[in-house]
Amino acid sequence: MESLLSNTPAANHFEIAGNEQIFGASRFVRACLRQHVDRTPVWLLRQAGRYMPEYMAVRKHHSLLDICRTPDIAAEVTITAAERLGVDAAIIFADLLLPFTPMGVDFEFLAGEGPVVHSPVRTLEQVQALRTDRIAELSYVAKAIQKVAHHFSSPRTDGDALGIIGFCGAPFTLASYMIEGGSSRNYIETKRMMYSNSAAWPLLMQKLVEVLVGFAAQQVEAGADVIQIFDSWVGSLSVTDYKEYCLKPTTELVQRVQALGVPVIYFGVDTASLLSTMRETGADVIGLDWRVPLAEGWKALGEGCAVQGNLDPITLFASEEVLQSRIREILQQAAGRPGHIFNLGHGIVPGTPVDNVVKTVEWVKEFSAR
Ligand code: CP3
Repeated sequence: MESLLSNTPAANHFEIAGNEQIFGASRFVRACLRQHVDRTPVWLLRQAGRYMPEYMAVRKHHSLLDICRTPDIAAEVTITAAERLGVDAAIIFADLLLPFTPMGVDFEFLAGEGPVVHSPVRTLEQVQALRTDRIAELSYVAKAIQKVAHHFSSPRTDGDALGIIGFCGAPFTLASYMIEGGSSRNYIETKRMMYSNSAAWPLLMQKLVEVLVGFAAQQVEAGADVIQIFDSWVGSLSVTDYKEYCLKPTTELVQRVQALGVPVIYFGVDTASLLSTMRETGADVIGLDWRVPLAEGWKALGEGCAVQGNLDPITLFASEEVLQSRIREILQQAAGRPGHIFNLGHGIVPGTPVDNVVKTVEWVKEFSAR
């Protein structure tokens, strides 16, 4: 079998069927597949972000979208964060909303407000008008991944390769931005369409899946080892509504991405009651937030899947003593079982002390060494 130590575009495709050991894959990819690792792999949600002075220095001269759309800069931001923190995986610097542009939905990021979609999609006619044939316009993300993969193509000093994570949104979470026109508290317009427009909602789900599969395929082709699907706001749904309106398109997305030859991490927030249903998507790894104890969340999912998480990102503001005890607690709950990737339960927030982030990564490595 071809060596998987290099993250060249040709080398990241591998057979994940059966119980075949994949020697040479990074410890991050091995953990996604519930294979043996020498210590718990660690990376952090929003590891390249506004808490980091290096990112803010770049951000001074470029808008968020400029950074995303300029492969050299997106790659630099991705690489700088991964190297500064010493994490086991680099997530490509991009944003959930990028696929909106080729779909014909204009948006911008406003300071202090987050994303704003100027003409929210609320009618069947608007859903019918969404384009699914211009995914090639997103190739700047793949170009950035290629640069990151090239940069990390040789093993690190500890002999392990760094994992490269591509990502996209899940249909529900992306639909919520499209329909609400931005971030939301109660998802009234999203749920209104879901409950009452039986033509528009499934068509919107289907169009999003088509675009997201194509977008993920570009990223895998470029060298992404794993795809993370962000369903950040799925926790706003009841189990019944998730099953009735979201499970099918999300499962289709997960399985079509897996068919590209990479493991899938499926992440959401406030999902304690949804975990066993999220598991039905067949995702290789489920991201847990901190509201559910890791052992309890893993039990709800069953042993057939890996878990990622689940430190409260605000613990990074705590004393070293508290921070260490929370890290140890998570590792104790994982109990060395194959298939745990250490992460936060949600993204690092602006203002987080960088020192604590760096130390967290060091402590996870130290406390989990087998
Ligand atoms: O290294 C990394 O993890 C950063 C790469 C990244 C960004 N967005 C860049 C970004 C990732 C993985 C995302 C995903 C994303 N985008 C999500 C899912 C992750 C999650 O937190 O659940 C969501 C919901 C979005 C949509 C989005 N983008 C929002 C709601 C906002 C504003 C909120 C905020 O934090 O201000 C953004 C802006 C954004 N995307 C920033 C970054 C670093 C911060 C704004 C900036 O730099 O100007």
